[in-house]
Amino acid sequence: MKNLTIAIDGHASTGKSSIAKALATKYGYLYINSGSMYRAVTLFAIENNLLTMTKSNISLFIKKLREISINFKFNDHNLISEIYLNSRNIENEIGSMKVSELVSEVAAIPEIRKEMVKLQRTIDRDKGVVMDGRDIGSVVFPDADLKLFLTASASVRAKRRFEEMIKKGLKVSYDDIVYNINNRDMLDSTRSDSPLIIEKDAIVIDNSNMSIDDQINKISQLIEDKFSN
Ligand code: DC
Repeated sequence: MKNLTIAIDGHASTGKSSIAKALATKYGYLYINSGSMYRAVTLFAIENNLLTMTKSNISLFIKKLREISINFKFNDHNLISEIYLNSRNIENEIGSMKVSELVSEVAAIPEIRKEMVKLQRTIDRDKGVVMDGRDIGSVVFPDADLKLFLTASASVRAKRRFEEMIKKGLKVSYDDIVYNINNRDMLDSTRSDSPLIIEKDAIVIDNSNMSIDDQINKISQLIEDKFSN
């Protein structure tokens, strides 16, 4: 049976990573959260004061990219592939509101995208991979065996994200989350380099009224169909 490349794209906070993680565990595939790579670069830029978008700062930012190494290491305790920036575990820091507010601007810089896509394509796909993001089916792996596009109403997404952040003990306002989600969708869909689009061969799943189990069942059926074809 061929191991598949599964691309999961979609709007902000649609639960892409939870679904991708669950599918990867079920099928023994590798799971890569490409959004966390853009978040890692954003964190690096915040820490190095590179985020005033003047031309000279952007070129300094791009030069500084050479100092960055991004890796994933599997944590046996929580069963999560955690992200490391220059050997430092930044899994928690990349979820902060500060990073969320700035990441879409950073992700719109073509030179940054070029580096991230290069890194994403070095992944060994032989054992099967589930990658989630915004341009996985359109740019990173246009040859993916299964392309999914997740969406949900903005209010459902904001509520889920709010509850997730409160559970993590983070102090956030619901209104800030609604603004952030809508703003990121707008920036991600309107940027000129590889905007968020629905590929012609992608299957759209609106999960506003679906549980994680409902989604896994539906997608598992699509995967089994691929195996039997
Ligand atoms: O999936 P996420 O919300 O953690 O992604 C953070 C941001 O990174 C998102 O607003 C857009 C950007 N991104 C991207 O442009 N391309 C990807 N493949 C993944 C994320």
